[in-house]
This record gives sequence, structure tokens and C-alpha cells, in this order.
Amino acid sequence: MTKIVKSDNLKDAARCLKEGGLVVIPTETVYGLGADSSNADAIDKIYKAKGRPSDNPLIIHITDKSDVDNIACDISQDARRLMDKFWPGPLTVILKKQPHIIDKVTAGLETVAVRMPSHPTANKIIKMSGVYVAAPSANLSGSPSPTVLKHVADDMMGRVDYIVDGNDSTIGLESTIVDMSGDVPQLLRPGAITYDMLKEIVPDVIYGNSHTDDDAVPKCPGMKYTHYSPKADVIVVEGDKEAVSAYIKNCLETNNNSGVLTYKGGKYEKAAFVIDAGYNMTEYAKNLFAALRTFDEHGVSIVYAEFANEFGMGEAVKNRLYKSAGFNVIKL
Ligand code: TXA
Ligand code: MG
Repeated sequence: MTKIVKSDNLKDAARCLKEGGLVVIPTETVYGLGADSSNADAIDKIYKAKGRPSDNPLIIHITDKSDVDNIACDISQDARRLMDKFWPGPLTVILKKQPHIIDKVTAGLETVAVRMPSHPTANKIIKMSGVYVAAPSANLSGSPSPTVLKHVADDMMGRVDYIVDGNDSTIGLESTIVDMSGDVPQLLRPGAITYDMLKEIVPDVIYGNSHTDDDAVPKCPGMKYTHYSPKADVIVVEGDKEAVSAYIKNCLETNNNSGVLTYKGGKYEKAAFVIDAGYNMTEYAKNLFAALRTFDEHGVSIVYAEFANEFGMGEAVKNRLYKSAGFNVIKL
């Protein structure tokens, strides 16, 4: 049976992590499905609970910068500069792994993903457990990552020992992933730490192959799987606000069970359900995954998502939104 606990009552959940159980922990990006990263049986349980292919490696979560030296080796000065600048926070760094890191966590790679979250409850429970916590996003494989307690419970009730309630995730999209294990820093997954922010610290950073097709061997293995897909078909409508609005209104004439995700407001009388994504890309990021799940709860068959191509956080929103739409994008 799954118990939901608050952040002031973490003792049993922390012990459970230590003893090889599964505990959903809140983080500032999305909720994570945590287990002891040194316990192979516990890691098996993560893959099983998510229905996740085991060739997709996990991120190890730590609470002190110095912990990274117990997990990784050959850490470059550039990698240290990034960690000094952005930890604790929404940045995951890929580094050469130490030999004792188990294959089940890294899916057999020679590298390991490490992140130090800033969410106080995440830090508290990881510290209390006394273990480093491997955690993917706490969704069933393929679904949008959960950013609110209800959506965690929808996917994970009955599959984990504890769910820790840490309020809504403030960022709403998963961490930025940067690969610092090779000669050139590579951005593998965009997030709240943007390309420009990385470039200020490591000027030679390049975009990695996070948009690769399924045949290539991806540097970020998770990127080859279907992601963030709600049950409804998502269609991104991108461009000038007025043109986007006119296009969607026209579609609604024929598709009467449609939802609309608006950006910077908008009225759609013919839509079955409308959700406002916000007025800037930071708000869009925070609202996107919860909105996709809410559309499904309302049973709409198509979601039209208003979008405008913007830099910074817009890159991370675009990456997740395009994937949720299976790259079904109307550019106006
Ligand atoms: O914000 C986040 O990063 C959340 C919270 C819970 O921390 N976690 C998260 O985990 O998004 P997950 O498992 O859903 O995504 C981790 C991604 C996957 O795409 C995986 O392939 C990639 O990180 N990854 C893990 N280890 C890697 C490695 N050694 N090399 C390249 N990519 C790696
Ligand atoms: Mg995930």
C-alpha cells in the first residue's frame, strides 16, 4: 500500500529509501521516483513501477557538491564551474562514472548522470536516508512527467511505498542535461538552465543529438522513446498570435471535442475545454505537463496548443511540446 506523507513527516519514508523501498520525492523540476542508487534490487523496482525500458539510465541525486566525487571521476574544471554556478538547481551533469556505480543505474554506460536538486524537501529526505537517490521522473513511461501531487498519485498509487507531498513543482520541466564526459560540453536536454546560461560558463558548449531519430545511438538514451504523450492528439500551432488564433478557431468548427492550450490569453467558445499556459515561457513550462494530463481527464480527443518560438526557456518548452505532439506542428 502506498502512503502519502508531508514534508514534516519524512522519517519512515527516509528509512524506506535506505532499506530498498520506492519513494516518490518532490523536486523543483518534476516529481522523481526515488530508490537507493547502490541497491540493484531497488533499481529494478524503479524500472518495473514505471514500465521503463532498462536501457534508459537514471539520474543520481545528491545533497552536497562534494558527493559528486563519490560517484564520478576525472571531473574537469569546466564541469566543476557548472556545478558551482548552478547547483543546487535544475542542472544534471553527465560525468565518467566510478567503478562501483552499478550498471543498472547507468544502463551499462561508462558515464553517470548527477544532479543536486534545490527543493528543500528533496534535500531533507535524501540526507535523512543516508543514500544517494536514483530517480527518474515519477510518471508511467511515456506519459507527461508529474508536477502536481494528484498526477503523481494517478500514476504511482499502489506501485510505490511512499509519496512525499512537496507542493507543485515550481519549474515544471525536467532538468537541463549537459554531457561533460567528453572533450566538448554537449547540451543533451534543454531545461530551465538555458543554452545561453551554460555558454556563459563553458563557451564551447554545443547542442548534442537530443533530437536524433530512433536508429541512431543517442547520447541521451531516454530521448529515443516516446515522451510526454497524453491520450489526446496534440497539434502545435505556432506563429503570430492572430494567425494562430484564427487557424485554431477554424479547426474548432469541425472538431467539436477539442481542447485549446492558450498562450498569452485567448477566447475559444467552440472548444470543449480551454487551459491557459500563461503569459511567458516560464509560466508555460510550469503549466505544460499538468495541462496535458488535465485535457485527458476531460476526455478531449485533440489538443490545439498555441505556441510562439522563443529563446531561453522557450527552447525547453518547445522540446517537450513538440515531442508530446509527435512533431505535429503547424507553422504559420
Ligand atoms: O529534473 C529531472 O531531471 C528529473 C528529476 C526527478 O530529477 N528526473 C528526470 O529523470 O527527468 P528521467 O529519468 O526522466 O530523465 C533522465 C534522462 C533520460 O533521458 C536518460 O536517458 C538521461 O537522463 N541519462 C541518464 N544517464 C545518462 C548518461 N549517463 N548519459 C546520457 N544520458 C543519460
Ligand atoms: Mg522522464
